[in-house]
Amino acid sequence: MSRVFDFDSVPDRRGTASVKWDVKANELPMWVADMDFGVAPEITEAINSRAAHPVFGYTDINSEWRDAYVRWWRDRHSLEIDGRDLVFVTGVVPAISSAVRKFTSPGENVVIMTPVYNIFYNSILNNGRNVVERPLLRKDGGYSVDWEGFERDVCDPQTTLFILCNPHNPVGKIWDRETLARIGETCKANGVTVISDEIHCDVVTPGKSYVPFASVSDTCREISVTCIAPTKAFNIAGIQTAAVFSRNGFLRHKIWRQINTDECGEPNVFAVPAAVAAFRYGGDWLDSMNAYVYENKKFVGEYLAKSSPGIGYDIADATYLAWLDVSRYTSDSQKFCDALRRETGLFVSNGKQYGKTGETFIRVNLATSRANVEDGMERLCKFVNK
Ligand SMILES: Cc1ncc(COP(=O)(O)O)c(C=O)c1O
Repeated sequence: MSRVFDFDSVPDRRGTASVKWDVKANELPMWVADMDFGVAPEITEAINSRAAHPVFGYTDINSEWRDAYVRWWRDRHSLEIDGRDLVFVTGVVPAISSAVRKFTSPGENVVIMTPVYNIFYNSILNNGRNVVERPLLRKDGGYSVDWEGFERDVCDPQTTLFILCNPHNPVGKIWDRETLARIGETCKANGVTVISDEIHCDVVTPGKSYVPFASVSDTCREISVTCIAPTKAFNIAGIQTAAVFSRNGFLRHKIWRQINTDECGEPNVFAVPAAVAAFRYGGDWLDSMNAYVYENKKFVGEYLAKSSPGIGYDIADATYLAWLDVSRYTSDSQKFCDALRRETGLFVSNGKQYGKTGETFIRVNLATSRANVEDGMERLCKFVNK
């Protein structure tokens, strides 16, 4: 019998130095992508058990860590990863920044498909590379690749890297095999390396699953480095524990060297036990969490349709984020979000920061209690209906 988890009761996160919850008393934060749910009990146990040992010295990764990733991807995602191909890294963003530094030279182009996770821009621009934004096409609420534009972008000899978001934050799209295969072929034909950021892969609608880029074809495997982590799905971002892998020994060596040079390749004492506990024992918790978040999404869909039908919302297959179209109310989501926060205390992410075509959207984090989601929707609808 599967266990029951209580996602209706969320711990009070105020006063815990939380990036998300360090806000005024009347404010309701539904922005940054971490969840308000307490983690799977086995993760807490693993951390407590490590904390009980009185020495917190330098830590190494071990075979249990490799094994936990290998089994999870085999069982959940039908992907065989060779444990020796895994490289520890403190986060997916550090890995992406390292990849930009190693696989490209200053002044070269890195392609991203927008709207996309805003920190991709930082990893590119902070290293003196050019961002090439390729807006996704939107039709009937769904997103797809603009192939003509993408081919032009990667054909440019100045383009050396493409950062894929798989599944895609903020739109919540699970890319299908055919799309991924074509991305692989297009990049290979133009000598472009692919970094596949798969951090959101386990947060999916019940019954859905994502397609690992490296599972699609020999080409995809050969030209890519994949970033994976338990942090998003199991709500342990503050532990800073992630991994990269590549079947291509050359790329793997390069990224390993750069992660080492950037000094983000060593785990803190909790990074290994937390990841191992999540992947070994967190499956039931994850499934229940995904079911709960899906109900939150349905609630939002129904609530908006009833109270503010001018806000567009299509339930996405991945992530716990709702990508809401507020074009009926604003052409500048930054201004919209500032006013929303000032007037109602609801703090959400403005879509503008995710790049082209995000300017009239807001991103709302639904990984919280139903009561908070209801409160958030009430504040939002009151604001737009006034
Ligand atoms: C697509 C994507 N990649 C990476 C990250 C952050 O990764 P990390 O905390 O491991 O650096 C996030 C966080 O929201 C994300 O949405």
